[in-house]
Amino acid sequence: MSESKQGVIFDLDGVIVDTAVFHYQAWKKLADELGISFDEPANEKLRGIPRRESLLALMGFNPGEEKIREYMDRKNVYYLEMVKTIKSGEMLPGVGNLLAELKSQGYKLALASSSKNARLVLEKLGITPVFEAIVDGNETTKGKPDPELFLKAALKLDVLPSDCLVVEDAESGIAAGIAAGMHTIGVGNPQALARADCIVSRTAQIDSAMVREFLLGDSKSGPDAG
Ligand code: G6P
Ligand code: MG
Repeated sequence: MSESKQGVIFDLDGVIVDTAVFHYQAWKKLADELGISFDEPANEKLRGIPRRESLLALMGFNPGEEKIREYMDRKNVYYLEMVKTIKSGEMLPGVGNLLAELKSQGYKLALASSSKNARLVLEKLGITPVFEAIVDGNETTKGKPDPELFLKAALKLDVLPSDCLVVEDAESGIAAGIAAGMHTIGVGNPQALARADCIVSRTAQIDSAMVREFLLGDSKSGPDAG
């Protein structure tokens, strides 16, 4: 059997683990301290967006480099306090089974996150070795919706972009996946994720049959076929 040439590229925050909530709570704490109004609908637009751009969007103006650094650091301290509480295996429901199922069927798995804390979170969860490729905010110059993260992940997997499926909870992530020429499954808010090939409300609703269908548009083929 020839080696699989199909990849599934997972976002981290909000797809694999509930850290999207931590990002929101950390931004909310900073916003409250700065007297800026910030709520969940406003946060929806920040999903998948790098730290600096998120801060600028939250503030609505550029406060200057010194303040930008101070506020980004403050938010990250709040975020890391919450990340400390993550326990090994504490993923969103169904994620462990999905990763194992896809791996057993020969798909190549990658993790692509705008977060500079992505590797730390994977270590806390104990799932770093599950991924053949990991691309995070430390090794890219442009965050989602730019396709750079996903294209780098496909290169590392040695899989063509058109043979990759992106799993994302962010509007910016779906846009990045489409810009990379990949298939997309959106997890969460149907309005925000409207451009995805398919939308589910929770990661647990994804299985290998769905991956096969959306990756190939042909349910008879799969990584083990041929
Ligand atoms: C992910 C999250 C965003 C977060 C970004 C940067 O994409 O969805 O909410 O702002 O990563 O995370 P970082 O940990 O580097 O601040
Ligand atoms: Mg996300």
